[in-house]
Amino acid sequence: MDLLEKLRDIERRCARYAAGTAIPGMTVIDRILGPCEVLVGGRPTMMFGSNNYLGLTLHPEVIRAASEALREYGTGTTGSRTANGTLGLHEDLEAEFADWFGKRHAIIFSTGYQANLSLIGGLCGPGDVILIDSDSHASIYDATRQTASQVIGFRHNSPESLRKKLERLPRGERNRLVVVEGLYSIRGDVAPLGEIAAVCREHGAYLVVDEAHSLGTYGASGLGCAEAQGVLDRVDFIVGTFSKSLAGIGGVCVSDHPELRALHFLARAYVFTASGSPSNIASVRAAVRVVREHPELRDDLWANIRRLRHGLQERGYVIGDTESPIVPIITGDEERTIALWQRLLGEGLYVNLIVPPGCPKGECVLRASCSAAHTPEHITRALDILARVGVELGATVAS
Ligand SMILES: Cc1ncc(COP(=O)(O)O)c(C=O)c1O
Repeated sequence: MDLLEKLRDIERRCARYAAGTAIPGMTVIDRILGPCEVLVGGRPTMMFGSNNYLGLTLHPEVIRAASEALREYGTGTTGSRTANGTLGLHEDLEAEFADWFGKRHAIIFSTGYQANLSLIGGLCGPGDVILIDSDSHASIYDATRQTASQVIGFRHNSPESLRKKLERLPRGERNRLVVVEGLYSIRGDVAPLGEIAAVCREHGAYLVVDEAHSLGTYGASGLGCAEAQGVLDRVDFIVGTFSKSLAGIGGVCVSDHPELRALHFLARAYVFTASGSPSNIASVRAAVRVVREHPELRDDLWANIRRLRHGLQERGYVIGDTESPIVPIITGDEERTIALWQRLLGEGLYVNLIVPPGCPKGECVLRASCSAAHTPEHITRALDILARVGVELGATVAS
C-alpha cells in the first residue's frame, strides 16, 4: 500500500459525511461569545462539548493574571524547564499544587498528555510491568509504549480483573505500576479507587491515578475522585491536566515520593520540550485559587448535571449510568450518530461526537459535557433542540 493511502482513506471518510454541512472533527469556532457560547459558521451556538467544567476560561481573575504575566514576562519561555525555561511562576504553581493536595511534591508539564508520558516514561523501563485499564486514554497507552516495559490491560474498572493479572505475575521479581483514571472521559464513569488501591497494596504495586476530568469537579476541595473516595493517601502519584477545569494548558503530578523531583532530569517529554508560557502558567495559578476559594462552583456544576441528565431521560434518550459532568448519549450506529450531530450543530447545539476508532463499531456516542457556567436557560434550550431532532431522526426511545 502506498504510504499516503491511509491518509486518503480519512479524506474519503470525511467526504462521505461532508454533503454541504459540518464535517466531524473539523468544526471551526469563529468567536467565543461566553464560557458556554460560541460562534460557529456565523451562528451562535451553545457549547455542551467543551471541558470547561467550572466555566473559568473567561473568569476575570484568571484573565487578569494572564494579562499581567504577559506584560511582565512576555509571550513565551523559549526553552525547556531543564534548560532555560524555568521561571519563578512555574515553581510557584508547583508549590500551589503541593499545598492544595497536601502532598510534599508537585511537578508541572507542558500538557496533560506529556504529564503521563513523563511520569510513566520516567518511572518504567525494560523489565518493569505496567498494568492499565482497558479504557485508558491515548496518553496512557502512548506513555507505556516508550518504556519497553511489559504492558498488561485489565478489564475496565474491575479490581478483580486487576487482581487476577497481578496474581499471574511471578512474585517480587519485577516492579509493577498500575495506571487508572479517576473519571473516564468517554463513558463518564468513575473508578473504584479504594478497591484498586487495596489490590495494589496487596501485590506491592505502585498506583497512578489520572484525574484529568475529575480535578476541580470531584471531592470536597476539588482534588478529584481519590479525594471524593477518601483514598488520596493511598495513591502514589496523582496526575492532573490544566486543560479542563483549570481553563489553561499543561499538566501536573503530585506525590509524597521525593523521587518525583528527578523527572526534571529524567523525563524526555519534560526535558525536550518548551515549558508552559508565562501567561498560561499565571492563569492556571489564578484558576486554582478560584477553585479553592469557590466550592459553590462545584455545586452549580452538579445541579446542571442533574438537570441535563433528568431532561434527557424524560425525552427518551438513553444515557450512561453514572452521574458525572460527562453525559454520554448512547446512539449506536455511526451514520445516524453523525446525522444527529450535524443536525444539532445546525440548530445551534455543540456536543462531542464519538465514533470509531474512539469507540467500538456500533457503539457510537454523543458526549455532552456540563459546565458550572451553563444557565438553566441553556439547558432548557439544549433539551428542546435534542427532543425535536431526536424524534425526527429516530434517536430516542420514545420516537
Ligand atoms: C485521562 C486524560 N489524560 C490526559 C489527557 C491529556 O490532557 P491534555 O489535553 O491537557 O494534554 C486527557 C485529555 O483529554 C485525558 O482525558
